[in-house]
Amino acid sequence: MDIYWYLIPQDGPYPWSEKGRRTIDYDYLAQVARAVDHLGFTGALLATGGGEHDAWVLGSSLIPVTKRMKFIIAVHPGIVAPLMLAQKAATFDQFSGGRLILNMVTGENKQMPPYGITLDHDERYALTDEYWGVWRRLMSGEVVDFDGRFVNLKGAQLKLPAVQKPYPPLFFGGSSEPALSVAARHADTYLTWGEPPPQAAEKIKAVRERARALGRTVKFGIRLNLIVRETKEEAWAAAQWLLDRMDDATVAVAQARNRTSDSVGQARMRAIVGDRKPKDARELEIYPDLWAGFGLVRNGPGTAIVGDPETVAARLLEYRDIGFDTFIVSGQPLLEETYRVADLLLPLLPFDREAVRKPRLDLGPFANAARG
Ligand SMILES: Cc1cc2nc3c(=O)[nH]c(=O)nc-3n(C[C@H](O)[C@H](O)[C@H](O)COP(=O)(O)O)c2cc1C
Repeated sequence: MDIYWYLIPQDGPYPWSEKGRRTIDYDYLAQVARAVDHLGFTGALLATGGGEHDAWVLGSSLIPVTKRMKFIIAVHPGIVAPLMLAQKAATFDQFSGGRLILNMVTGENKQMPPYGITLDHDERYALTDEYWGVWRRLMSGEVVDFDGRFVNLKGAQLKLPAVQKPYPPLFFGGSSEPALSVAARHADTYLTWGEPPPQAAEKIKAVRERARALGRTVKFGIRLNLIVRETKEEAWAAAQWLLDRMDDATVAVAQARNRTSDSVGQARMRAIVGDRKPKDARELEIYPDLWAGFGLVRNGPGTAIVGDPETVAARLLEYRDIGFDTFIVSGQPLLEETYRVADLLLPLLPFDREAVRKPRLDLGPFANAARG
């Protein structure tokens, strides 16, 4: 089981509202990264969407303040030339000692035109397919001439290799028909937002079948929020506290944005979450211990597992049993919750933190010595 955290600029106790949002700067993000690194998470996802700090610059700046965490850097195809991306990836992988993972994201209708990508949904996936196909060949050391619909280059060759062979792992997010096919062709790990286990299992089956037809195997990952507390009552009270801070205007704006997205993954989330804000948080429990409240105020991953550590661990293991081995989790605020999740939850999971952490100092007879 690999457990990653999340590292994005918007954060705070309830960051959808100005009152609940923190100022996010380098010092803050470096604190979160150092917590992730110190606590033994496998790494963190650095998302990209438009409004935040650049994921490559952020990731690069965090290499020297961390020792072993991996960086999953989200990349939209077509914005930088494939050879340039190959150079960035090889450089990052070398300088970090093999700690790079890329998340191939295709983006959605509103997000891409400002970056010069004005293609419609399915054409964007045709671009994704060409782009990552060329990138993989470059990372494998080929000299590439390519004359495609979207990618055209001559005599492209990467001169310095990455540490990881044949290239840093490729993660992938996208739920539409063309997305599933592109994932089968290029992804090492297919990611989904936290849909209930039966729906998530359908996606695993669909991608696995397509990959098998191409003679490939793909691993699976899921992106979930967590609300873990010492007791179930406290955890649900925390969910209620969050719901009570979701004002109707913010919900309306987020829902309007989600409705106009052409992302199939987002539509699947919307169908799960609905657009009505109930009074009682439990009304948004759409599967045992799975709460859809975050989906009211944000796009993307709208669900959270809520409960005491044993409950949350059991639910994560249910996902593991249907085929997920990569978990990208987070809680709010990102900094405090790294510690809470590490203290309460990680010890209950079959997750080899000790392999990557220094052994605890054995105090022996000093354990009970009076201090202070
Ligand atoms: C776990 C996960 C993480 C994602 N991260 C990002 C991201 O950082 N930036 C982004 O633009 N899209 C992100 N996406 C969305 C993808 O860009 C996806 O291509 C988009 O939702 C449209 O695809 P679809 O219609 O095939 O679902 C992510 C998706 C998943 C499942």
